[in-house]
Amino acid sequence: MHIVHISVEMAPIAKVGGLGDVVTSLSRAVQDLNHNVDIILPKYDCLKFSNVKDFQYNRSYSWGGTEIKVWFGKVEGLSVYFLEPQNGFVSTGCIYGCRNDGERFGFFCHAALEFLLQSGFHPDIIHCHDWSTAPVAWLFKDHYMHYGLSKARVVFTIHNLEFGAALIGKAVAYSDKATTVSHTYSKEVAGNPAVAPHLYKFHGILNGIDPDIWDPYNDKFIPISYTSDNVVEGKKAAKEALQQKLGLKISDLPMVGIITRLTHQKGIHLIKHAIWRTLDRNGQVVLLGSAPDPRIQNDFVNLANQLHSTHGDRARLCLTYDEPLSHLIYAGADFILVPSIFEPCGLTQLTAMRYGSIPVVRKTGGLYDTVFDVDHDKERAQAQGLEPNGFNFDGADAAGVDYALNRAISAWYGSQDWFNSLCKTVMEQDWSWNRPALDYMELYHAACK
Ligand code: ADP
Ligand code: GLC
Repeated sequence: MHIVHISVEMAPIAKVGGLGDVVTSLSRAVQDLNHNVDIILPKYDCLKFSNVKDFQYNRSYSWGGTEIKVWFGKVEGLSVYFLEPQNGFVSTGCIYGCRNDGERFGFFCHAALEFLLQSGFHPDIIHCHDWSTAPVAWLFKDHYMHYGLSKARVVFTIHNLEFGAALIGKAVAYSDKATTVSHTYSKEVAGNPAVAPHLYKFHGILNGIDPDIWDPYNDKFIPISYTSDNVVEGKKAAKEALQQKLGLKISDLPMVGIITRLTHQKGIHLIKHAIWRTLDRNGQVVLLGSAPDPRIQNDFVNLANQLHSTHGDRARLCLTYDEPLSHLIYAGADFILVPSIFEPCGLTQLTAMRYGSIPVVRKTGGLYDTVFDVDHDKERAQAQGLEPNGFNFDGADAAGVDYALNRAISAWYGSQDWFNSLCKTVMEQDWSWNRPALDYMELYHAACK
């Protein structure tokens, strides 16, 4: 099969959040199953070109009153076509945050379909994502389906219905198949008027993570290679390296890590509460996060300064985006906290487990589907063929966080042997694309029938 993703994010060259990870890692998994995958991306000025191999001019075509230059390169082994309209419209600035993002991405979607048409591509599947490439679905059905690209079917994935629900609803209506990124999230959004009429073409397919990109045995950002066999040694070295790098006290205390965009979705008040609770329980806490909203960013800058003077040896807030540091935190922390108010899938809890860190999460969306509480969820885990792998809570208040975090930290202090075997258990669980990539292939085939 030939699958073309039209996307505005792609890890690691143009990543804002999990959407970028998914485009890359799903594509790699499908390519590994011997299918042909291409990705079409805007050629942003801010692309991380150091991660693009064999970058070269490919061709030019005219559309929308401008010449569009196409560049080609390999990213993580995937073929990527970068569109650069000469009117500067798409590549201006960075990924999101321009006043006219809607227009920019609308133009890009149109240009991407035109590129497929004018270059004689005949994909089986055109896969688009979220509001930013939603227009692909209706542009295709209104026009391109009748002019040269008739063989293709459109699959649309909802990563987050919070942004642009009306556009997303329209894309679901026009697509052949629609997915959300976890089963529970698909149920949570089923009542939303934007998607409710189209539930018959709706599938919840859990995201995976790329086990080669996130691999503690082969990770240049951590001090010792480890697998589940030497997880204790590997994580001890990573914790010390992290403490040293951030100027924290080098000591074996329970370490809580948080890696997140700082937005309402991620449970900001719960994150703040968890920081203080961890400190009360004599733990260490490292937060890596950045806020698109300057007020939230400022608020955290103030908190970071306050903590630096009151708890400088045990708390560090790194208010930036830093991929290498995220690897060291996944490896060095004992726990990764994800107290989201809602979470379509969530990748940080999965990556945490790959590095032997224990997820502490709020029971919502994909967090509910992937984290099974050691005290309460044995049966639910076993129904999935798994052992319990973390701590979870229900409410959206301080008491909820306390309930899970207190049990997690007590377990750490209680028995190192038990805790170490839990780290080994989570590392051995398979949260890769092995299974979900097959589900996508089944969906792609069903779309083409
Ligand atoms: P979302 O897409 O809603 O932000 P996900 O959990 O799906 O949430 O994906 C977030 C991705 O972004 C993960 O790969 C995580 O490691 C990464 N990430 C989030 N914040 C940062 C940061 N400040 N620095 C580095 N990586 C980050
Ligand atoms: C969105 C969601 C997140 C999901 C990611 C990738 O950004 O917020 O839960 O993991 O997309 O699908």
